[in-house]
Amino acid sequence: MTDAEYLFDNEWKMAHERVAALERDRDHASIRCLEAIGVAAGWHCLEIGGGAGSIAAWLCRRVGPTGRVVATDTNTRFLASLDYPCLEVLTHDVVTEALPTGAFDIVHTRAVLTHLPEADSVLKKMAGAVKPGGWLLVEEMDFSTEAIAPGIDAGLIHLWNKGMRAVNLVQRQHGMDLIFGLRLYSMVRDLGFISLASEGQTCMFQGGGPRSEAYRLTMEQLQDPCVATGEINAQEFADFLALFSNSSCVMRQFLLMSVWGRRPGA
Ligand SMILES: C[S@@+](CC[C@H](N)C(=O)[O-])C[C@H]1O[C@@H](n2cnc3c(N)ncnc32)[C@H](O)[C@@H]1O
Repeated sequence: MTDAEYLFDNEWKMAHERVAALERDRDHASIRCLEAIGVAAGWHCLEIGGGAGSIAAWLCRRVGPTGRVVATDTNTRFLASLDYPCLEVLTHDVVTEALPTGAFDIVHTRAVLTHLPEADSVLKKMAGAVKPGGWLLVEEMDFSTEAIAPGIDAGLIHLWNKGMRAVNLVQRQHGMDLIFGLRLYSMVRDLGFISLASEGQTCMFQGGGPRSEAYRLTMEQLQDPCVATGEINAQEFADFLALFSNSSCVMRQFLLMSVWGRRPGA
């Protein structure tokens, strides 16, 4: 059974903290890719599913007053607080609504498509929004690198495995492809993009450390659907959550796969 409802509603009480922790963790990798592409003053940019807006803000600063940034999200409550003259914030569902064709020097998204059962058709739609000669940069998850390091109490490792099994089950029930990031390169190539490049980013982190926050909050938001699977009970899930505050637990993040390419022409 597939429940296509998006799992990480921006209305959740800790949603801003969760997305801000993701930004702290991942912005440096995204910015490295945007700089490699050469985003410059005057560019027209489309940011899909902009979340809390750190990349939209970076793009605004980079393109300056002669440029334009359109930042979309189904829930724009965080984007709405950004204040840049070149920014347009749009409440927009990239699954059901159209995008202008051939309109942007760069179209970017991060950690959005993996959540969408319609990811393949959305990627095609995003590709169509790129101007001839413009760039597509897509950064999505490959969850196969997630792991807990050995060398600690076997009970903690068992708990991690049990919690992550429930998390992965919920993700699949919601139509997520857990290795979408692994498919990205060939998808972008098969859409006709050239000058392809890619970069993957992950790291190790320990419970209670600054980089554990994005994970702890993500898992907390998944608590109810995970317990509803029957794979883990509420007490076990609370103990699983505590692993992300336990400094003896060293874990490895998902791989964020960034792939970019240029649309031929111009
Ligand atoms: C995990 S957050 C990532 C936010 C941001 N891209 C980042 O990496 O910091 C996913 C974002 O995609 C948005 N989103 C989910 N489904 C969407 C859709 N169908 N169309 C546009 N945005 C969507 C969510 O509201 C949320 O803000």
